Amino acid sequence: MKSVIIGEIVLKNPIVLSPMAGISSLPFRIICNEMGAAYSPTELVSARSIRYNGVDKSFRYMRISPEEEGITAIQLFGSDPDDFKAAIETIMETPELKDVSIIDINMGCPVPKVVKTGSGSALMEDPVRASDIVKACKKTVAGLKRKVPVTVKTRTGFNAGDKGKPDFAKALADAGCDMICVHGRTRTQMYHGESSIEAIALMRDAVRDYDIPFFANGDICDVDSARKVFERTGCDGIMIGRAARGNPWIFEQIAAGLAGSEMPKYPDEQARKLMMIRELEGRLKYLPEDVAVREFRSVMPYYIKGLPGAARTKVELVSAVSFNEVKEIMGIV
Ligand SMILES: Cc1cc2nc3c(=O)[nH]c(=O)nc-3n(C[C@H](O)[C@H](O)[C@H](O)COP(=O)(O)O)c2cc1C
Repeated sequence: MKSVIIGEIVLKNPIVLSPMAGISSLPFRIICNEMGAAYSPTELVSARSIRYNGVDKSFRYMRISPEEEGITAIQLFGSDPDDFKAAIETIMETPELKDVSIIDINMGCPVPKVVKTGSGSALMEDPVRASDIVKACKKTVAGLKRKVPVTVKTRTGFNAGDKGKPDFAKALADAGCDMICVHGRTRTQMYHGESSIEAIALMRDAVRDYDIPFFANGDICDVDSARKVFERTGCDGIMIGRAARGNPWIFEQIAAGLAGSEMPKYPDEQARKLMMIRELEGRLKYLPEDVAVREFRSVMPYYIKGLPGAARTKVELVSAVSFNEVKEIMGIV
């Protein structure tokens, strides 16, 4: 595996956790990086909200720990370049956030609430605005003492018929973006249907002459699918989303598989349960117990998927209200 450099940040391997709202908690990101992910961005956070409300309201989604994570990345969404400028300035003035390594811009979110404000995937239909956002971010980070790369995560199109948006990728690169990641679905597809490797490849080819890494994303769930995406798109790196839920081991598996070394053994039942408890313990450090457990209800089933009695355990877990109750259900004392 060749090493990938984003701005001046050297990645230990080309495999990154894809940002996921509700999933990309700080403890989960720490675990994924420990398991081999080069870095793990936060979920999307509103640039406008940071501009007008400060960081308090969204702090829990932006919480980073450079000591425990290594490379850190905060993902922002919005549609106004000035919001991004103000948000980055605020982040850089916040002691707990100012050391963030990478600022990532969301240009792929398909959710109506986000799209109707001209943010997320809507930006694919407005390349001039998208470029202005990248330029505003780049200008803002240029004023900092250290180099902070600005990356973009987008899709292969907005409308059902779109089969890749090479001109959009070029516009982002021309605006000075330091890395582009493309999820091979259109906005219309949301998360359904297949992720198109061909459409990703088209966008990859469009920015081949620019000196920036290109990441591919969508439906990568094992070494074979990872290898296929690398071979057929010529991408420099990959992002893994859904297949990592409750399965942070996927990073060491794929890293080993791609490097041609022996794959680590898949964890046994006890190891999976303990990892789940570890993530919940991490969430308990910054959330009240009832909130942490309630929010974790949607995550826990991923950790026990396929285990004997998983269906019954899942029913018990989704009504759990305390940490002790979760441990009891899992048979962990
Ligand atoms: C529950 C969920 C939340 C997501 N939240 C975000 C997000 O906050 N920012 C983002 O860029 N993409 C988000 N995505 C998209 C993923 O990062 C990824 O692009 C998509 O799931 C395709 O990759 P995969 O097939 O590996 O899951 C989300 C996806 C899911 C399933």
